[in-house]
Amino acid sequence: MSDRLIGVFFEDINFGADGGLNAELVKNGSFELPPYRLGWKAIGQAELSAGRDAPASSGNPTFLRIKGPADGEAGVSNEGFRGMGLKEGEKYAFSMLARTTAGRSVPVTVRLVSEGGETLAEAEATVKGSAWKPVTADLVPAKTDAKAHLDVLIQSEGPLDIDLVSLYPHDTWQGRPHGLRKDLVQKLADLKPAFFRFPGGCIVEGSELRYRYQWKSTIGPRTERRPLVNRWNTEFQHRLTPDYYQSFDVGFYEYFQLAEDLGAEPLPILNCGMACQFNSSELVPMDELDPYIQDALDLIEFANGPVDSQWGAIRAAMGHPEPFGMKLLGVGNEQWGPDYFERYERFAQVLQQAHPEIELISTSGPFPSGKHFDYAWPILKQIGVPIVDEHCYAMPDWFLREASRYDNYDRSGPQVFMGEYAAQSVAICSPNNRNNLRCAVAEAAFLTGIERNSDVVVMSAYAPLMAHVDAWQWTPDLIWFDNLSSYATPNYYVQQLFSLHRGDVVLPLEIDDPRGSRQPGGRIGIGTFDTAADFRDVTVTRGDRLLLKATDLPAAEALTIEGGEWTTDDGTLHQQTARGDSQALFGDTDWGDCTIRLKVRKQDQQGGIR
Ligand code: AHR
Repeated sequence: MSDRLIGVFFEDINFGADGGLNAELVKNGSFELPPYRLGWKAIGQAELSAGRDAPASSGNPTFLRIKGPADGEAGVSNEGFRGMGLKEGEKYAFSMLARTTAGRSVPVTVRLVSEGGETLAEAEATVKGSAWKPVTADLVPAKTDAKAHLDVLIQSEGPLDIDLVSLYPHDTWQGRPHGLRKDLVQKLADLKPAFFRFPGGCIVEGSELRYRYQWKSTIGPRTERRPLVNRWNTEFQHRLTPDYYQSFDVGFYEYFQLAEDLGAEPLPILNCGMACQFNSSELVPMDELDPYIQDALDLIEFANGPVDSQWGAIRAAMGHPEPFGMKLLGVGNEQWGPDYFERYERFAQVLQQAHPEIELISTSGPFPSGKHFDYAWPILKQIGVPIVDEHCYAMPDWFLREASRYDNYDRSGPQVFMGEYAAQSVAICSPNNRNNLRCAVAEAAFLTGIERNSDVVVMSAYAPLMAHVDAWQWTPDLIWFDNLSSYATPNYYVQQLFSLHRGDVVLPLEIDDPRGSRQPGGRIGIGTFDTAADFRDVTVTRGDRLLLKATDLPAAEALTIEGGEWTTDDGTLHQQTARGDSQALFGDTDWGDCTIRLKVRKQDQQGGIR
């Protein structure tokens, strides 16, 4: 069995990074997000403005200027990520850069305030002169509060310029300053994942290319990392999170470090010159693809290169002279069609020559919408892709049925990475989906098939991984959390069960099937179905399923196949309808052993019968 079988896939969706894994409690502490005041509001008669003259950081040039009335308290308040989770008696490190005008002194109060308005902790400092200087304080809240906020106050006219405001708990994963939230990382560690796929997902692609994930802007000093709007900052599943951005506090270095902490192989995914095909058809022309491929070459050097190489030196300067031992690299996320294949091939030509030690993973588009997938596989096989990433969000019935999906898979082609999957309790992408037991059991059934066929399915991961209860865009998710605590779902325990108890070998198994010589879960072809004919007789036995595929159609053509009507030997007329882009599956019917008389109608999108 593959020792990479069960891993995790992390994407900054559902406030998974900022507001989640990233223990930082201040939202938009660098004031770079449009609008610069996002997450902040004025207190009292404070006059707020964005400044850019002589900034503290060239990477993050915007700062906040606060002016107050001559008498009385004024300032700003930061709301955190749907509030700030503070724990009684724990130490929180506050820091910011601040200045005033030459020759002036401004007394400043920093306060942690409960949702109800009670002061939980307070510190005072004096800011002097026009040079940027750090202001730091350790604050210990008197009470626990899940939705507290942070106030920065002055009792004078100011002005007070502030930038890079931060508040994080001392008690982080491995006690690292500006570290990760301990309870969330512990939940990942308890899964003992074989690999750690990051950073996405659709955020790799971006809704437009200018919003794609660019790993180089996520490394080096945090103060220089410029935030970017998050791909999930859009209306999705009828939910809107307009304040969703990526601070890149958790960037590629931190992801590699986390993978190492978890004992998991790092699996970075890079943009392949295509924006998210669900949002736009923006493409990098083939003759402008080289910088994207260079990013991949540089990433390999950043992860594995010697300390005297350009990118290896940056890794070493960040605190990790030893290589991260990266062996896997994903080219693109959930992309499909000829545009993808030619881009993948170009990446592969360069990377396989320069780094034959790196195994490349291609995508195959979203599945099981059929048309992308059926179209992609033969081409990916021909191109010689080593591992294909399949994504599958489907109903629990699909997972139960597809427990035998890989039993007869082509062993002469690429191996499979089931890189994103989750049973959907209500409908695919419905906001009402729940992490219920039925879904978890269906996923467990599916995983038995993956285990049994792990010579061909070498990796798998549930998705999405994390969700904030007050700020999610997608459900179901493996781990849910609020600002203070987190909890695992039934689906999590399924993952854990399979991960902790992964076997070493699959023993050969023969089943004496009274129904005949077919392999368990195998398929019998009934050949081409002539839709011009009225019906066709098909012999089926109890438990058989009938799959209709529109294989005679141009791959790009979207179709609906409709209808299913059969008469069993006792004369009863059955009817069932299924729809799909290019295939339909009649599954759960208990039709016993009989001959069915099947009628099939094909219907185009406009509803015309063909
Ligand atoms: O897991 C959520 C999203 O589902 C991922 O970003 C994308 O790859 C897929 O469509």
